[in-house]
Amino acid sequence: MKISVDTVKVVEVGPRDGLQNEKVTIPAQVKIDYITALGDAGLRVIEAGAFVSPKWVPQMADTAEVYRNIPKDPGMEYPVLVPNMKGLELAIDAGVKSIAIFTAASETFNKRNINMTIDESFESYAPVAIRARGEGMRVRGYVSTAFGCPYDGEVAPEKVLEVSARLLDLGCYEVSIGDTIGVGTPMQVQGVIGMLLQVIPPSKLAMHFHDTRGMALANTLAALEMGIATFDASAGGLGGCPFAPGASGNMATEDLVYLLDGMAIETGVDLKKLVAASSIIAPYLNHPLPGRYLQACTRTALPVATQTTAVQ
Ligand code: HMG
Ligand code: MG
Repeated sequence: MKISVDTVKVVEVGPRDGLQNEKVTIPAQVKIDYITALGDAGLRVIEAGAFVSPKWVPQMADTAEVYRNIPKDPGMEYPVLVPNMKGLELAIDAGVKSIAIFTAASETFNKRNINMTIDESFESYAPVAIRARGEGMRVRGYVSTAFGCPYDGEVAPEKVLEVSARLLDLGCYEVSIGDTIGVGTPMQVQGVIGMLLQVIPPSKLAMHFHDTRGMALANTLAALEMGIATFDASAGGLGGCPFAPGASGNMATEDLVYLLDGMAIETGVDLKKLVAASSIIAPYLNHPLPGRYLQACTRTALPVATQTTAVQ
């Protein structure tokens, strides 16, 4: 394995991707505490929510309240998802400084997710990006279904490149390449990244792996080998898109940081404090957090006597 990356930027998506798929309504104050704790753990980019239709994604309906009450320390970035001009106006009202626009490399998923074809999404995002940049906002782009679509099946790497290039043309500072349903495998990941790198520098690319088939860390290593140094992850391994059937959690931030710590790759994230942040959200969910590092911590936190009993 030959990896030259020595520092990784982790984009924490737990408060948005992690929570958008949860059916129980989580109080705004809990989200605020969770985001604050994620910042205390050393994460510098934390996706704080989404100004999307509350009818489509009810969990994100309190994004303005959450955003207004998070710390916003200097050096921190709190992007929010914006699907159209209405979302941008709500973001401007809330004082947001950084947004993410999102489209896909496959038509049917895009239609189900934002009710637009890929071309329609670019027609809609063009004035959004111009206005956002005019307001001094940073604009990030997402390309979903880059490794496979739950409706259309295989996705051509050429299509991923085309959509990524169009997002960069709109002025996105970075494009996050999403394995929305966690179907990608390492060789495929390197194939797609290889195609993107023919046109796009690695500094403008991020990878967004969902861990549905347990491939996220292997895919991360494959991407690191290609020089990618920005990864999206979700504390505790929450995540999933309500409009991508079968999609489950993002790569867990704890698992990613554990991997990178073991390779002496700098992230600035304190694993202990990250676990503390995940434990803020855990009691409000109706299922355990799937992250493996977190589960290992919970098991090894058992009293020694209990462990001995379990072994006997
Ligand atoms: P639509 O129904 O076509 O919208 O939805 P519309 O323009 O016809 O408006 C219908 C109603 O929604 C109107 O209200 C609008 O005002 C309202 P009504 O008159 O009926 O009372 N509306 C809004 N309300 C609040 N905020 C807005 C907004 N826009 C319209 N921004 C729309 C189109 C894009 C709004 C909808 O499809 C939507 O909100 N989609 C978002 C879906 C979503 O959030 N998906 C998850 C995030 S993407 C993801 O997870 C993938 C990612 O993680 C990467 C990866 O894993 O691949 C990023
Ligand atoms: Mg996602």
